Amino acid sequence: MRVAVVGGTGDFGLALAARLVDAGDDVVIGSRDSGRAEEKAREVGAASGAANEDAVLDVELVVLATKAEATLATAAALADAIGQTPILSVASELRFGPGGARPGADPRSLAERTQELVRAPVVAGLHSLAAGKLAHGRLDEDAFVCGDDTDAKALALELAAKAVAGRALDAGPLESARALEGLTAVIVNLNKRYKGHAGVRITGLP
Ligand SMILES: NC(=O)c1ccc[n+]([C@@H]2O[C@H](COP(=O)([O-])OP(=O)(O)OC[C@H]3O[C@@H](n4cnc5c(N)ncnc54)[C@H](OP(=O)(O)O)[C@@H]3O)[C@@H](O)[C@H]2O)c1
Repeated sequence: MRVAVVGGTGDFGLALAARLVDAGDDVVIGSRDSGRAEEKAREVGAASGAANEDAVLDVELVVLATKAEATLATAAALADAIGQTPILSVASELRFGPGGARPGADPRSLAERTQELVRAPVVAGLHSLAAGKLAHGRLDEDAFVCGDDTDAKALALELAAKAVAGRALDAGPLESARALEGLTAVIVNLNKRYKGHAGVRITGLP
């Protein structure tokens, strides 16, 4: 699969890129700075690095992996360059305050709001995979993907299966991204409370 990772110079995007390279995918690292993208691409053995608007051209899937606060502005800026290429949003909006992390204040997910800005089908997933662990290899966890476009979701599930040794699971429509993004706050709080590195495994499925 040929995949662009927008914001692929960051902790999560680069770790994901490394796992996709391991799996034999053709990965383009995207950045606001093409030089940084090329440097990071060399670091993980990706096919190339480029400015975000060039990275998204001629790929099968675009992973939107900028820092969460930049997701909507980046999606809007890249909408024309991305065209109809499916987008995987991995972003979770978090608020920090007394007692711990909370989901973002907007009742809709970042992924749903991203969908309003682009013509491409948006799916969401991989929120529960920690960059720090993913950088060292496939995770012994499950990964979740949700979305309304069947083909886009199938592509994202194929990608997710390369990041985890557990299962890549279809979590339903794009609105489920509200729960998947919110789960990130739960994981952050568990890590802090129990001083660990939580991941998720679903039981009871055939
Ligand atoms: N960290 C995790 O464990 C984890 C796990 C699951 C999902 N996620 C999600 O993955 C995404 C990336 O997380 P991260 O921890 O890798 O974030 P990060 O390192 O803070 O940022 C990722 C990249 O975003 C780009 N960026 C920063 N500010 C930007 C702006 N104003 N406009 C456009 N691009 C900007 C930067 O790339 P350039 O400066 O090179 O353009 C940076 O390398 C987030 O949406 C997060 O919710 C993270």
